[in-house]
Amino acid sequence: MTILNVHLGGKLRLMRRRLPRWRSVQRDEPHFVRVERKIVQVRWLTVFFVALAAPFAGLTPAALLGTYALVLAGAIYTFMLQFAIIERHPEWLAGGYLTSLVEAILISLIAFTTGGAGSIMFLAYFLIVVAAAVRYGFRSSFVAVGLSMVLYSIVAALYPGGGPLGIGELLLRFGFLAMTGMLAGFLAQEAHQSRVALAKELEHTRELHRESTALAQENARLYSELQERLKELERTHHQLVQAAKLAAIGELAANVAHEINNPLTAVLTNTELLVEDGGPEDPRKSELQTIREEALRARGIVRNLLDFARQTPPALELTEPVIIIKSVIPLVQTRAALAEVEIRHSAEAGPLPIMVDINQMKQVFINLLTNAIDAMPHGGTVSVTERRQGNRVEIIVSDTGTGIVPEHRDRIFEPFFTTKPGVTGTGLGLSVSYGIVQRHHGTITVASTPGLGTTFVVSLPVARQSDGRPSSSPPGASAATIRGVSK
Ligand SMILES: Nc1ncnc2c1ncn2[C@@H]1O[C@H](COP(=O)(O)OP(=O)(O)OP(=O)(O)O)[C@@H](O)[C@H]1O
Ligand SMILES: [Mg+2]
Repeated sequence: MTILNVHLGGKLRLMRRRLPRWRSVQRDEPHFVRVERKIVQVRWLTVFFVALAAPFAGLTPAALLGTYALVLAGAIYTFMLQFAIIERHPEWLAGGYLTSLVEAILISLIAFTTGGAGSIMFLAYFLIVVAAAVRYGFRSSFVAVGLSMVLYSIVAALYPGGGPLGIGELLLRFGFLAMTGMLAGFLAQEAHQSRVALAKELEHTRELHRESTALAQENARLYSELQERLKELERTHHQLVQAAKLAAIGELAANVAHEINNPLTAVLTNTELLVEDGGPEDPRKSELQTIREEALRARGIVRNLLDFARQTPPALELTEPVIIIKSVIPLVQTRAALAEVEIRHSAEAGPLPIMVDINQMKQVFINLLTNAIDAMPHGGTVSVTERRQGNRVEIIVSDTGTGIVPEHRDRIFEPFFTTKPGVTGTGLGLSVSYGIVQRHHGTITVASTPGLGTTFVVSLPVARQSDGRPSSSPPGASAATIRGVSK
């Protein structure tokens, strides 16, 4: 049987290769056609089995000949089924009525040739009844039972030899046939229902799985969105706190500077008078000179403080950052040469118009360049680049210095915050620069990696050349942004 199956299987595979249509039919064919294909193999098996067994059934030569004629008919039927009906008219197979009819006729004819009503071939009716029941259910199995009963009755009537002795035995045979059909039909229905239930369950589980996967993905997305929002909120909050802190410090500084300015002026004027009165030989001359110098230094600080908090708008002029940077570099060149720092300057091609108070902007870049040089005591490079970013002009000052430690990053714009020893730094450079950039409606941001270097970015609005005014609202209208971002 295995050999036969392998043989048939091989043949089928050959057919599939030869007939491209076979594959396309196979893909979308209904379930019963697929089952029919399998059952064709059982039919072939039956044909071969009957052909092999017939000589040993003790048949007369005439009966044997008749049997072989019917085996041939069975083979032709199976062949037709396999290569014509299943391929071209699979709809004929629906319900199993056609196959039940043909097979019941074949079995009846074999029964007739092999002994009539008493032929062992009666058992073959069970095959078609069970096959119909399993494949198509009760209705089909009852049709198969009915067909078998009618045809067998005809056989029994025509050739009663060795058959049922009376109507009782005949009814018993039919009863068993019908009950077999019912049992097989019932079992098939049960199997079908549990298959359907299982498929439903499976589909439900798949659906749940799909839903939970989608839910998990959605959750992950929401979570990362939330994280992003929280970070953004944190950044905004930080900027607001910084801006508010500097605004408060600025106000305080302005008030204090104002209050100190008048007594300082008095100290300076009176010191000048005392120096003049004492003449060149005055023994207090050196002390008075020290008072004068310190008072002047204090006034410088006060002026810087007022610069940081100044409310008056800058005197705007249309210019380009390249002009400002080129005029500033020579001013810090000596300091840079002493520290063995190289200053590189590059600008993006094309116009970068800005409306600024040139002197104030020079002060900003002197501060930034001086800080960069101070951060490279053993030499290094500071690069200044200008570029356009949308409707902003960015001037980037980047050094290869010591960098700023994270705990200082939020404090560098505060007045008097300095890490420079002794009197070398007042800690006003960046706060003054901040005030100036703010009044130009710009932003100043810093990114630094300790040990690697620091980058300051001054971003200013592009000037609209048509009216000679900055493209944004008048300076001083909003707070500058200060950000400390770690690289
Ligand atoms: N490019 C930089 N690299 C490393 N640290 C810097 C840099 N720029 C500023 N800082 C830090 O920020 C501090 C504050 O700078 P700011 O310019 O306000 O004051 P200062 O340079 O210390 O003093 P002043 O500018 O008044 O001479 C500096 O002391 C330094 O610690
Ligand atoms: Mg400085």
